[in-house]
Amino acid sequence: MRVSNILTFLTSFALVANADRLVRFISTDNREYYGDAILPRNSTDSAHSTHANVIRGDILGDYTVTSQIKEIKTLLAPLPAERVRAVRCVGLNYVAHINETNQTIPSFPILFYKPITALNTPFDPIPVSEGYQTQGDFLSKMDYETELVIVIKKKAFNITDEEAFDHILGYTVGHDVSHRGWQIDRGGLPQPQFAMGKGADGWAPWGPAIVTKDVVPDPQALNIWTKVNGVTQQNSSTANMIFPVKHLVSFFSMGTTLLPGDVIFTGTPNGVNLGKADPDWLVEGDVVEVGLENVGTCTNEIKYV
Ligand SMILES: *[C@@H]1O[C@H](CO)[C@@H](O)[C@H](O)[C@H]1NC(C)=O
Ligand SMILES: *[C@@H]1O[C@H](CO)[C@@H](O)[C@H](O)[C@H]1NC(C)=O
Ligand SMILES: *[C@@H]1O[C@H](CO)[C@@H](O)[C@H](O)[C@H]1NC(C)=O
Ligand SMILES: *[C@@H]1O[C@H](CO)[C@@H](O)[C@H](O)[C@H]1NC(C)=O
Ligand SMILES: *[C@@H]1O[C@H](CO)[C@@H](O)[C@H](O)[C@H]1NC(C)=O
Repeated sequence: MRVSNILTFLTSFALVANADRLVRFISTDNREYYGDAILPRNSTDSAHSTHANVIRGDILGDYTVTSQIKEIKTLLAPLPAERVRAVRCVGLNYVAHINETNQTIPSFPILFYKPITALNTPFDPIPVSEGYQTQGDFLSKMDYETELVIVIKKKAFNITDEEAFDHILGYTVGHDVSHRGWQIDRGGLPQPQFAMGKGADGWAPWGPAIVTKDVVPDPQALNIWTKVNGVTQQNSSTANMIFPVKHLVSFFSMGTTLLPGDVIFTGTPNGVNLGKADPDWLVEGDVVEVGLENVGTCTNEIKYV
């Protein structure tokens, strides 16, 4: 090889830095890559990224950010569903949301799970199957919930709040799609049916990037919002969480091992349809944007299937 070729070869595999925004995408060669998203100048949302530095290795283990740049044709969810071994979700974690739904502030985090088949990309439609479309005889129907999502990097069992950040890879934004009819009307009151109301296929869009904890040193200071068809419906701050990120991770690790790739949806602020006097339940064609400051947005359309 000529010296210039050798230099090109070496630089294309050189370590650039730790990744800031871990994405997974299909490039113009129709191959799938992990990458560190390159942001456009005017945005911190990798949903607007057109290129990324290719990552070699395992984003849940050891990886290298190369200087090779690929064009992003389609952004995917940050990890394939099979690599996410548990989708943990927190029920009531913002006072104003508890208030708007007439519930009481819990003394401990309220945990439920979604199956991994609920995970969805940041842009694909949210499928609503027939049993969830027949909304007529429910008191309450399809609703949105925007949430900060924690991604676990290092196995955790019985860890303290202080140790929690050591086990976190980063944060992304997620949509805890909810059918209140199945969750509440057809729950065994006073017990809700979280799994039936929230666990359907595609009801957990997440991404587009896992923003590493170096970029977000304080996850409790981020604006969090929802827009439905462009109109703001939720607009709060993660400062309003009752149980902060570090406590959720330590609390859930009390008797259950958290594994690399596990995600934790951390609850939604106020502004959901369930809390409104004149709710405008989501129907086919509605476009929901869930957003988290400095982290990103997912934008998905409700689609009857
Ligand atoms: C960033 O700037 C481009 C070009 O000026 C514009 O098309 C795009 O909408 C802007 N994006 C955001 C998120 O403001
Ligand atoms: C609680 O909800 C009521 C309406 O249900 C509202 O008037 C009040 O401002 C809310 N309080 C808080 C602290 O959010
Ligand atoms: C909460 O209570 C208020 C006042 O009693 C009522 O109007 C509202 O429908 C209730 N909301 C929910 C979600 O139960
Ligand atoms: C959990 O950690 C505490 C100390 O932080 C220790 O006392 C306790 O035995 C541990 N429990 C288990 C099940 O490992
Ligand atoms: C949320 O509220 C803040 C402060 O009022 C405002 O600047 C911001 O634009 C709002 N965000 C959305 C998405 O409407």
